[in-house]
Amino acid sequence: MRVDAAGYFISFEGGDGVGKSTQLRLLGRWIGAVTGREVVLTREPGGTSLGRVLREAVLHGEHVDARAEALLYAADRAHHVATLVRPAIERGAVVLTDRYLDSSIAYQAAGRGLGDDGVELINRWAVQDLMPQATVLLDLDPAVAAARRTAAPDRLERAGAEFHRRTREAFLSRAAADPRRWLVVDAAGDVEDIQSQIRVDLAARLDLTPVVDEAVHAGPDEQREQVEP
Ligand code: TYD
Repeated sequence: MRVDAAGYFISFEGGDGVGKSTQLRLLGRWIGAVTGREVVLTREPGGTSLGRVLREAVLHGEHVDARAEALLYAADRAHHVATLVRPAIERGAVVLTDRYLDSSIAYQAAGRGLGDDGVELINRWAVQDLMPQATVLLDLDPAVAAARRTAAPDRLERAGAEFHRRTREAFLSRAAADPRRWLVVDAAGDVEDIQSQIRVDLAARLDLTPVVDEAVHAGPDEQREQVEP
């Protein structure tokens, strides 16, 4: 039997412009080297080709009704999980996603004021309850994050200071409620310092095991079978 049957699933969360994609890339390179496993870097919205169409519609189109927006993110997530995330975990890969379900709780439930219950329900249904083993929250004052951005703001980034204050609070309270899954890091620091905090924490938390070649294990297992009655 393979000891490495299931891979790992880790999400990165936080406001816009907090450095999630940089940290995710650095972590992916390190986990790949430590475990020898396949590493899949992905994102929401837009991790699949259907997702890229949905991303364009939800971020760069005209006004979108708040419930329709929540359903578009959930639709992107359902397809992403079914076609990319779950198959990768099942073949033993490490999947790192830039945003996941908690973004919908922060942005649609808290930011748009739709409330946690309904948004959690449609998303849990969409992903058939697949949740990450670890979620890294890069926490930063939204005003500091906005000052770091260079590109033109998208629809969500234009939502206003009060909206972004609510999303930050929602991330922090969700993290406080489930410390076994969440790691909260102050994103104001230096890129390397943040990365080493994440590595130290996840190494302890996830029991990262190297991928083991089935052929290497076949020998001892077969021998044991021969000596057992
Ligand atoms: P992203 O591409 O991560 O932007 P950034 O690099 O600026 O963080 O996310 C795009 C936007 O989509 C971002 O403003 C957050 C928003 N979003 C939601 O509102 N709900 C969701 O479920 C997800 C995944 C993203």
